[in-house]
Amino acid sequence: MKTQVIAIDGYASTGKSTLSKRLATHLGYTYVDTGYMFRAIGLYVLQNNLIVDDVITLSELEKALPTLQFSWVEGEDAQLLMALNGRLYGEELRSTEVSNLVSRVATAAAVRSHLLEQQRKLSDNTSVVMDGRDIGTVVFPNATHKFFLNAKPEIRAERRYAEMQAKGIPGTLDEVLANVIERDRLDSTRAIAPLVKAQDAIEIDTSAMDVEAVFQLLCDHIKS
Ligand code: DC
Repeated sequence: MKTQVIAIDGYASTGKSTLSKRLATHLGYTYVDTGYMFRAIGLYVLQNNLIVDDVITLSELEKALPTLQFSWVEGEDAQLLMALNGRLYGEELRSTEVSNLVSRVATAAAVRSHLLEQQRKLSDNTSVVMDGRDIGTVVFPNATHKFFLNAKPEIRAERRYAEMQAKGIPGTLDEVLANVIERDRLDSTRAIAPLVKAQDAIEIDTSAMDVEAVFQLLCDHIKS
């Protein structure tokens, strides 16, 4: 059977990953979190001191990229989990430092082309729900279904802040709101693969909807 791709793009903290994970489980597809990939490269930049005077040393990062390989490892319940060079990452990718850096890392042409290749490779022979910013426009322009999620910045920041508090990740609501607004700006104005709704994507404003309502809406569109 032909493999399927469901592309879920949209602004930061619109619930993309929660919904994509749930949809993937529901459909028996593999969930591909492309933000994880950009964040893992961001963490690599921080850990390897590839920032000098607040500027990312792109020449060094470009040299390292071929050594940064993403692959699937099987989790306890046979679910596929994404690893970088065999290592699984968790909440360390969601720290304020990584969140503040990641959109800058994501503007680099070499990073985008390296990850584009990896994203397509991870989807070989398996149906996927993939979330990100350019999935329906660049990574899989022929995706089976495309969705584009949006919500008011204040609401997105509140949701993210509540999540951080629950997980004990430090940061204030003001910092989270500033980060959400700045990432939206960088993600939508970059030269390569900017965050933009694919013409044929279904746009959903989740400001006044809970996860359950958005999930049902996605399922209804997929069924129809
Ligand atoms: O989905 P996220 O918030 O974890 O993504 C983190 C950053 O990675 C986001 O601000 C921009 C970048 N990104 C991207 O440029 N393209 C993607 N397909 C996914 C993420």
